[in-house]
Amino acid sequence: MENETTEKKISELSALIRHHNERYYQYDDPEITDSEYDRLVGELKDLEMRFPELAQGPSPLSRVGAPPLPRFKTSGHLSPMLSIEDAFSPEDISAFERRIRRTLDNSDQIDFAAEPKLDGLGVNLIYQDRRLATGLTRGDGVSGEEVTANLLTISSVPREVRTPDRVPEVMEVRGEVFIKTADFKRLNVWRTKEGLPPFANPRNAAAGSLRQIDPAVTAKRPLDIFFYALGTSSDDGFTSQEEILQTLSRWGFKTNPYVKILPGITQCIQYFNYLKGIRAELPYEIDGMVIKVSSLELQRRLGVRTRSPRWALACKFDPLQETTTVEDITVQVGRTGVLTPVAILKPVKVGGALIRRATLHNEDEISRKDIRIGDRVIIQRAGDVIPEIVKAIPGERTGREPIFKMPKTCPDCGAEVVRLEGETAHYCLSLSCPTQIKERIRHFASRGGLDIDGLGEAIIGQLVDRGFVSDPGCLFLLKRDDLLTLERMGERSAGNLLASIRGAMRPPLDKFIFALGIRHVGEYTAALLARHFQDLSRLREATFDELMNLRDIGPKVAESIRRFFLEEKNLEIIRRMERAGVVPSPLERGGQTPLAGMTFVFTGALLALTRAAAKESVERLGGEVSETVSKSTTYVVAGDKPGSKLAAARNLGVKIIDEKQFVILTGGEG
Ligand code: IVH
Repeated sequence: MENETTEKKISELSALIRHHNERYYQYDDPEITDSEYDRLVGELKDLEMRFPELAQGPSPLSRVGAPPLPRFKTSGHLSPMLSIEDAFSPEDISAFERRIRRTLDNSDQIDFAAEPKLDGLGVNLIYQDRRLATGLTRGDGVSGEEVTANLLTISSVPREVRTPDRVPEVMEVRGEVFIKTADFKRLNVWRTKEGLPPFANPRNAAAGSLRQIDPAVTAKRPLDIFFYALGTSSDDGFTSQEEILQTLSRWGFKTNPYVKILPGITQCIQYFNYLKGIRAELPYEIDGMVIKVSSLELQRRLGVRTRSPRWALACKFDPLQETTTVEDITVQVGRTGVLTPVAILKPVKVGGALIRRATLHNEDEISRKDIRIGDRVIIQRAGDVIPEIVKAIPGERTGREPIFKMPKTCPDCGAEVVRLEGETAHYCLSLSCPTQIKERIRHFASRGGLDIDGLGEAIIGQLVDRGFVSDPGCLFLLKRDDLLTLERMGERSAGNLLASIRGAMRPPLDKFIFALGIRHVGEYTAALLARHFQDLSRLREATFDELMNLRDIGPKVAESIRRFFLEEKNLEIIRRMERAGVVPSPLERGGQTPLAGMTFVFTGALLALTRAAAKESVERLGGEVSETVSKSTTYVVAGDKPGSKLAAARNLGVKIIDEKQFVILTGGEG
């Protein structure tokens, strides 16, 4: 790179980083994700190191954070609040240890304090003669905002240190203010209701809550704190981080229960992986693990750099938020006819998975978040949940980003789209909309429903498009010849599919009710209804009041169930299934357990069923499955290439049946 371009790059990066520092530290409203920020910092660091002669004034990297906002009185920390060097891989962690050993010229064992890296905001509490005198935000690391009164609203912040121990006359205690994930969600629900913009993440919520002019507002926010360090303390005699944490805890300062003192770096890496694993289950957010050399003597010998101490390392987890671009917004039709807008994203890796789409829920949500096609957006993925867009970054717009409008007609069948009174969703009300039909059948055959093996999206698509199936009832009338006309469907897969459809003809009542796809009736409600009514016809005839009498069923659900069974088309579908021989079985056994007292043993490979499915149908019908053949075995089911159990059955005179007979016995037609 030419010097001139490098110089320009450095000044651009510096300006960018200053801008983002301001957004993050002063306004609690970042425009980019932490990982993107880290990349900018990494890039600038690299350039500054390679071209020290091109430095232009003070680097944004030599300061921590951003200067405090003038709305608060500021005051200096007694000793600076440093940052911690980041590590992104186990190699970075090992390199940290090698660096330490080189500097210390030491091959002894080194104890490390491994602590969760809490994702909140750092604060500094100055105690004088045991009483909290001043509470500061980190600010730029040199001075921070005075938020003493606000900090005192947090119940876990001691006003006074009560202990028989001697306490330093002046003492800085440092910790992280945070908000629990559940409280953060509740806070955002409330803010949305009040018409206020939601916080992007718990960290911003905690920062925004602590930095309120009126402490009464802070007092209403569920803030919490963990303490993890001391700053300047007069004549302290501490020898290690371990001792500091133990003492703080004894003095009434809450410390994190996951802090561990570990004898080596390998154990630190192991513990890092452990914390990564439990991350999603912790009630608050952590974004990594901090490793600190525990001995204060060694810390002194290692010393500090401009921005960070040489004895600490922040090992970061893969971020759960990323920035990307909305390339398009499409509309997806669901089984109830709801149209859901979906953002098509420039693919980006988040928390280990490549994300290409994010649900936008409905039109109101899109306008509330003001998301436009072409926007840069922050997306997030928490655990296994569907990725969602946290916010758009309007600062990066060109002005040519179109605003999304819900289509007037169904993108699939062309029928008119309506928005019902009092609902946020748009609907395609056509009963013959092919996508809805496919989605209804997919739901019917899904795991939570009748669990029909082999009936995937591609096959359902063909069955509907070719007119073989227009509702779930049609599935049970399918013929082998129908199936054989489908693409990539041979004799064997056709046979398998027919067998699994037949295998689904004795569904447990709760699964059957769920499979019907009644709006607002999920698996839980379906089980509730099955337990109470025991039989489909009683549910069909239940009145609104009867339904309302059930615990956990409200007017919306009761109304939806009533409406479903008043619809002639739905009744017709159910009748068709009944005629085909579909008989849902009640949850409670008794009477309806044709296989009660029978024991089945399987040998050889089943073709149409998995072993697990076969076992399930036996048990559902009251029978038992055993691994060994004995005189008390009722049937041995011989599949393909049966083993020694077949010979045993012959010897003992146990009845042997094949798979087809088994299917008939358990409710299919063979
Ligand atoms: S110790 C020099 N311990 O991480 C070390 N910091 O980049 C001073 N943080 O903003 C800090 N958890 O607010 C320390 N267990 C922990 C921490 C922690 C989170 C934050 C701290 C600071 C940043 C360091």
